[in-house]
Amino acid sequence: MRVVVVDANRPEMEAIRAAAGIISKGGLVAFPTETVYGLGGNALDPIAIERIFRAKGRPSYNPLIAHVADASRARELSSSWSDAAERLAAAFWPGPLTLVVPKRDDIPARLTAGLTTVAIRVPSHPVAAALLRELEAPVAAPSANRFTELSPTQAAHVLKGLSDRVDLVLDAGPAPIGIESTVIDVSGEQPVLLRPGTLQQAEIERVLGGPLLIASNLSGEVPRPAPGMIDRHYSPRARLIVLRSAHELRDVVREELAKSMKAGVLLVERTDADPALDDFGVPAEAADRLELVRLPSDPEGYARELYATLHAFDDSGCDVILVLAVPEDGAWAGVRDRLQRASHQA
Ligand code: TXA
Ligand code: MG
Repeated sequence: MRVVVVDANRPEMEAIRAAAGIISKGGLVAFPTETVYGLGGNALDPIAIERIFRAKGRPSYNPLIAHVADASRARELSSSWSDAAERLAAAFWPGPLTLVVPKRDDIPARLTAGLTTVAIRVPSHPVAAALLRELEAPVAAPSANRFTELSPTQAAHVLKGLSDRVDLVLDAGPAPIGIESTVIDVSGEQPVLLRPGTLQQAEIERVLGGPLLIASNLSGEVPRPAPGMIDRHYSPRARLIVLRSAHELRDVVREELAKSMKAGVLLVERTDADPALDDFGVPAEAADRLELVRLPSDPEGYARELYATLHAFDDSGCDVILVLAVPEDGAWAGVRDRLQRASHQA
């Protein structure tokens, strides 16, 4: 395994060509996208796909995303391209959006976990874009982490889980968005949001000129083609608990420290600091078992730093991570979804 540092904005073509060479020979390359780092292999090569599943320890029922350089290549992978697909692709690609569309017959069933649809994304990160332009084939790339573990937003996070399972890591520094892409199924009559990300529902609906159904709100009679979405996911090693109020958080912090636990506490930066959070009333002997991090108070800033903060809590040996709930509004939907999944106890 090799790690090659590349310029995030003007990636060195020598490194890009080396990465493309590995992928075309059936190998695996971890590379940065604007959302998180991906574990890439040739999406049309069933053996490469198998290697991705094995490297991640991911169950075969959970399909992968095919990454391509532009929308015209995306259309080539689908057997029908709806008006909704066209509108969303035109508005948000390249960018943090994945579209689920009916698949072309010759796309390996292994990639799509046997589904008749395929998930496609055109990333905007210059390194990902340059790599995809070098390749004829689409690149299958799940997040470059072991199954159920936290997604990587830095090359070092990739190495923690996959160092012996990947041929090359392209290191371009931190991923600028920090949580995974918004996934929208546009294969049926009505577009369905399968995974929230940083794109806003209102903005998506404006582009669609109509409503976006939300998969998590749909009742049982609607088919739910989102295998893998229900799994415990994106989890740190430490137990993660989301607390509704500052007072609740303060009580739980004290309880956990009293049990000799090491606690990471995640707050939102505020100008009008909540007095309950200024002083946790922690005894001096426990003070070094408390790690407090405040993330930016805007959802984009919070998302960008979230996974790196959770990775850091794990690395410093926290037993428990206590998170103050983020606001309820739509702008925070992606972050709320990831916190909820991270706190889901298996
Ligand atoms: O931001 C991202 O999307 C990152 C970067 C690397 O592009 N990739 C990523 O991949 O998050 P992964 O494999 O960790 O998540 C893909 C999600 C899964 O939840 C999977 O169930 C869903 O997309 N998916 C893939 N194909 C699908 C399909 N045909 N129908 C429904 N859901 C699908
Ligand atoms: Mg993932």
